[in-house]
Formats: sequence, C-alpha cells, structure tokens
Amino acid sequence: MAVLVTGGLGYIGSHTVVELLNDGFEVVIVDDLSNSERFILKNIEEITGKKPFFYPFDLRRRELLTQVFDAHKIEGCLNFAASKAVGESQLKPVDYYENNLFTLINVLQEFKERGISNFIFSSSCTVYGQAETMPIDENTPLKLPESVYGKTKQMGEEILTDFAKAYNRRISLLRYFNPIGAHPSGKLGELPIGVPNNLIPYVTQTAAGIREKLNIWGDDYDTEDGTAVRDYIYVVDLAKAHVSALKKLMQSNEETVIDIFNLGTGKGSSVLEVVKAFETANDVKVPYQICERREGDITVAYANADKAEKELHWKSETTLEESLRTVWKWQMYLDAQTV
Ligand code: NAD
Ligand code: WQD
Repeated sequence: MAVLVTGGLGYIGSHTVVELLNDGFEVVIVDDLSNSERFILKNIEEITGKKPFFYPFDLRRRELLTQVFDAHKIEGCLNFAASKAVGESQLKPVDYYENNLFTLINVLQEFKERGISNFIFSSSCTVYGQAETMPIDENTPLKLPESVYGKTKQMGEEILTDFAKAYNRRISLLRYFNPIGAHPSGKLGELPIGVPNNLIPYVTQTAAGIREKLNIWGDDYDTEDGTAVRDYIYVVDLAKAHVSALKKLMQSNEETVIDIFNLGTGKGSSVLEVVKAFETANDVKVPYQICERREGDITVAYANADKAEKELHWKSETTLEESLRTVWKWQMYLDAQTV
C-alpha cells in the first residue's frame, strides 16, 4: 500500500515526503520539476535512508497518471502540485486554472474509478481574505479571493467537498497560514525562481547580499508597529500535520469524512518582527526600506489552530527564530552548490 504525493519534490511536499517515509509509509511522487530540482530527491533519500518512487511527468497527462495507479496500490493522496505565485496568476489566469484544477481532477478521476479514499488538499488561509475578527477559526466566513490563485484554492475545496459527498470518500482540506523555514539538515527548502515575492526568501536573499534591500510593503497598517501581521508556520511542523491528517482519514470508521483544519501557530508576527527575529537568529543584518503598501495585501491574519490540536493531536512547536535559523542554513547550502 502506498500514498501518492503530487508535487512531492516541491517546498512543502518534500518536507512531507520525509515525514511520511520516517513514519513508514511507502511514497510515490509525481512531480514534473516545473518548480523543483532533481537534487531534492537525492537529498530526501540522504535524509531518510529510503527511496520513494518518483515519476517525473506533468499531472495533466492523465494517461501517464493511469499507469502510476496501475503500477502501485495507492491508498491515499497528498496533493501539493499547483502553481502558486499570486501575482503571476493574475497575468496567466487560464494557465493557473488549468494547472491547479486539471492536476486535481485527474487524480480524482482515478480515485473515483478505483474506489480510493483519503485525499489531502493543500489549501490556504487566502480563502478567508481579510477576516473581520482574529484569530481565524474554521468557521470564519470565506470570502471570494481576489487573486486567480486564491480562487483555484477555493474551487479546489468545493470540488473535493462535492467529490466526498457524491462518492462517499474521505478528504481533508488543510488551510496553511504562511509556511516558512527549511529542513534542519539544511538540505531541503524553498527554491524561489527569480525575484522572490514572499517575505522570507526575500529577507534571506537580502541578508546574503543577493538583493540590496528588503522593501517593506507599508508601515501605515493598523497594527502595533504599522507593518502587516501574519502567522508564520514552520514547514516541518506543517509537514507533520499532514501525516496526522492522513492517518486520521485512514483510521476513520466513517465512509464520508470532510475535514477542514487551519494550520498555523496561533500567533501573529509583523514584518518588522520577522526582520528582527531573522537578524537575531542568524547574527546578520537585513537592510530595508519602507515602501507603499503592496496591492491586494491584507492587514492581519493569524490562525486559531485549536481544532487541529484537538482532532489531529498536532500543534506547531518551533519558534520563529528557530525556523529562521534553518532558512539561513538552507541559503548557505544553496550558496555552496553554486560555488
Ligand atoms: P512548490 O511550487 O514548491 O511545489 C509544487 C510542486 O508541484 C513543484 O515541485 C512543481 O514542480 C510541482 N508541479 C506543479 N505543477 C505540476 C504539474 N502539472 N504536474 C506535476 N508536478 C507539478 O509549492 P509549495 O510552496 O510546496 O506549495 C505546495 C502546495 O501548497 C501548493 O498547492 C500551494 O498552492 C499550497 N500552499 C502553499 C503556500 C506557500 O506559501 N508556500 C501556502 C498555502 C498553500
Ligand atoms: C508576508 C508579508 C507582505 C515581501 C502569500 C499568498 C497566500 C499564501 C502565502 C499560498 C506581507 C510583506 C513581503 C516583501 C514585504 N500562499 N512583504 N516585502 O502575502 O501573506 O501571502 O503567501 O497560498 O495566498 O498571498 O505572504 O510572504 O508574500 O508576505 O514587506 O518583499 O510580508 O506585504 O505583509 P502573504 P508574503
């Protein structure tokens, strides 16, 4: 019995594959390497001492996916494969709808035809938009996301909910807050292509001298120091939540399960707090300048993750500084590869 991990060589997928292998799961990865590199597979093997199956193809190719299902007894899927750049999604809406929805639907077709259950979906706190009250729990009303990327996440949730109801299957929608950090070994982490949009890769590259200065998008928000507040969750903690969510589905006696969990720390940190924490954790300087707000940004978002704690027996354990230390280690590893 094996679990399929789509996008298993990506940032969150690779960390989750490590946790699954360490927990004794047999893992089958499909990843077309559109946003990853082959050395990630080698590093997963070095870290775990185990070899996952790996198929490098585009999940939109249903006929190849069918062959994977023919070759392995798949008993569940963790579906990470997607395009994730919010800004790019506005410029390439059709490509985003195609990639994020077809990759999902192709796997669901196989699940439907073969009677397979246990599907974990990578959703996002973006489905809440700017919530009226903090912290955000799972009953907080959803808002139609502004970005095409966000809409693909909300559509993915709806497609899966309909799938579970119509065919009596078990699914889990995991709404990540802001995943950060790298593997403690320094051998896995986020691989930003080009100029990073997200805060932590930009901070890291600035500290490394690749970027001159961090642009802080706005210091006139209604927050303590005026910069926007997010809930930064350590990627290894996040990966562990996936294993718990999968086991919960697999151990359930119910035919139909629709789980929804917020995965965050429950604590908000401002952009300036993140910069200071990075500097302290790594004893480096991060030069920055204050700029205008970035279009589409919200003021504050942090999770109430009590439901995950109660039902998945999971909670985030790693401090902001600890996780920012791993990011620096990963940056050093990447620098050493390019020398
Ligand atoms: P990532 O880009 O690092 O990983 C995605 C992986 O999927 C990549 O390795 C890529 O090569 C692969 N992939 C993409 N399209 C594919 C296709 N058509 N066929 C085969 N492989 C394909 O992204 P990530 O940060 O690890 O995110 C994983 C999931 O979590 C995504 O669904 C993303 O939307 C979601 N998510 C991410 C964040 C975040 O901030 N990183 C937050 C919330 C939700
Ligand atoms: C965090 C904070 C920025 C870069 C995005 C997606 C969301 C989810 C996570 C996938 C904000 C500020 C950033 C910089 C800055 N992804 N910032 N200078 O915007 O919370 O969420 O990633 O589902 O859907 O929208 O994350 O890391 O981009 O920004 O000041 O160079 O850092 O303004 O306040 P965000 P982020």
